[in-house]
This record gives sequence, structure tokens and C-alpha cells, in this order.
Amino acid sequence: MEEQDWAGVVAAATRAPSIHNTQPWRFVARDDRVELHLDAARALPVLDPTGRQQVISCGIALEFAVVALAAAGWGAETELLPDGTGALGVIRLTGPVPADDEARALAAAIDRRHTVRTPFAARAVPAELLDRLQAETGRFGTWLKPITRSEEEVATVFLISRAEEMEQGDPAYLAELESWLRTDPAAEDGVPVGAVPEGDPHERASNWLIRDFVAGQREPHAFRAAGDPDAPPPEVERPAVVLMGTEGDDREAWLQSGRALARVLLRVTDAGLVASPLTQALDWPATRTRMQSRLSLVGYPQMLLRLGYPPDRADGPAPVVSGRRPVADVLRFEPAG
Ligand SMILES: Cc1cc2nc3c(=O)[nH]c(=O)nc-3n(C[C@H](O)[C@H](O)[C@H](O)COP(=O)(O)O)c2cc1C
Repeated sequence: MEEQDWAGVVAAATRAPSIHNTQPWRFVARDDRVELHLDAARALPVLDPTGRQQVISCGIALEFAVVALAAAGWGAETELLPDGTGALGVIRLTGPVPADDEARALAAAIDRRHTVRTPFAARAVPAELLDRLQAETGRFGTWLKPITRSEEEVATVFLISRAEEMEQGDPAYLAELESWLRTDPAAEDGVPVGAVPEGDPHERASNWLIRDFVAGQREPHAFRAAGDPDAPPPEVERPAVVLMGTEGDDREAWLQSGRALARVLLRVTDAGLVASPLTQALDWPATRTRMQSRLSLVGYPQMLLRLGYPPDRADGPAPVVSGRRPVADVLRFEPAG
């Protein structure tokens, strides 16, 4: 494939969501393959010292590239952690294939997908869609568990609240978060303040606490912890919340859960739904381990995702979309010979 064709594929890959929109990737393309490398200069040493969430982000970008190639009529094989390259993954072209409607629909969802943190419409997520997501994630050695039982929901909500409390009390965490917040709407990375709902997440009518991106800039409030983990949940917004996880907890498992998450997000977008990750409880070993035991999980939780139908925006402002670095900054092309 020519350089400009790879630029199109990498443009699609970089639409992937990433933790704090750090976009921790760089790509090296040759005529028949593209490698994805972790960009260590964009690390989050406080929030993500092992790089787990950044490697998941790279797994999503890798799979977005596969989807874009399929829609363009290219068959491809993905190898994770190829020997001797230092890459997280390589995608090798295997030859032309007929692009089907499914590939085109998923590729079309790449540009339409955005993290939506506002409360969702009061409309239940169809059970068949959740079944389909479960089947699809299984292809990547990743399980997907809808949090439906009340005691699991209460435990998860409680652990998110505990983690958020720890984060808001940690100046190093707050400084790192603030360094990735952006007020300039043209910013090429980081989380735009306009993409984060105004107001204190504790005040909104939801039992699911979204990450507080502007905690450090607000008057400190008396922290309302979730209290008694056995108390019934309050009557509030109820999105579908799914937990995704893997048997292992190494780079390969993180990449696989990222690839599975890519498919989940594109499938959900294609079905007219929206999503937002809620990963605070997975940021810290203490709350992550407690989630394993409280929910009797097999393996390791990698991603907690809130899913639902978008709010009716007929009269509201258009949502703020996060920026991306130009492809030229993240792609190096090495011509054959
Ligand atoms: C591994 C991972 C963890 C994330 N955790 C959160 C989170 O806890 N809360 C949140 O609001 N967004 C979270 N996000 C979403 C990112 O902030 C978002 O993808 C990024 O700002 C780019 O915006 P976009 O998804 O609209 O393209 C996470 C994304 C990834 C990939």
C-alpha cells in the first residue's frame, strides 16, 4: 500500500479513545504492514504506572486500523508483541478481500464515536445487543459481564466512589489530570473541558459516578462516599454498565481487551448508542483487587463501560469533540528497498 493509503488507515486508528486522550502511540508503515509502538513520552506515571490503560488504548487503535483496512477491501493478520521489533502489534496485509456491509458499517462508526458523559436517555439497552457484545469480545479472549445484579451494582458503585475519593485526595493525581485538561477547543490532545459535563458529578441524577475531571478547580466539598455497600441503590439514571476482563494481566491481555473494546464501541455506535468508560475503580490496585473479590471475577477487570442511548439534543449545543494529533506526527513511512 502507498504512503497516502497508510495515512488514511492511521487517521482511522488515531480516532481511537485513549486514557485522558493521551494518544500514546506511534506507527511505522512499510508497503505491506504497519507497526504500532507505545510512545513512552506520553505516559501517565501517577494514574497508570504499569501502562495498562495506555496499552488498552493502543489495542483499540490497532483494531480500528483492522476495521478501516477491511472496509477498504484489505485482508489483514494481526500479531501482538512481535519479536525483535519492540512494537505492541503489527498488522500485515494478506491481500484484497471483498469489503462487506458489516465492515463498512463498523468503519463508518469510527468517526461518529465519541465518549458521551452526559446522562443517557431513559431507554433500556436491548438484551440482544449485550449478548452480541459478549460473543464478540470472546473472540479476543476477553469476557464481558453486564452488571445487573443489585449487590454487584452496589459493590461496583461503592468502589468507584472510594477510588474517586482517593484520587481527589491525591495532589499528584490531580496535577497529572490537570496537565491533560484542555480549554483550547483546537487542542490536538487531552480532554477538552467542554466534553466534561459542568457541575459536580456527585450532584447528578445517576448512581454511577463519572470521573471528575475538574475536581482540582472546584471548591472542595464534603465528600459523599457511597456509605453502606449493602444499602439499596437510589432511584436514578440507570445506564447499562458492563465490565470487561481477561484471564491474564499482561501486555497481551491488555491489548486483547483493547481490541475487544474497539469492537464493542463500534458495534454500539452503529446501533445508535453511546458510551463512556468509568475506570476510576480500576486505576488503583486496592479497589481493583476488591472488585475481583466482591464480584467473584475470574481473572482481571480491565474496563468498566457505561452504555445507553444518547440524550435528546434537539435544542442543546453540539457536543464538544476531542482533538487528535495530525497523522504526520504519529506515522513514519519506510519505503521498500
Ligand atoms: C482505557 C481508557 C480509560 C478511560 N477512562 C475514562 C474514565 O474513567 N472516565 C471518562 O470520562 N473517560 C474515560 N476514558 C475516555 C477518554 O477520556 C476519551 O477516550 C478521550 O478523552 C478521547 O475522547 P473521545 O473518546 O471522545 O474520542 C477512558 C478511555 C480509555 C481508552
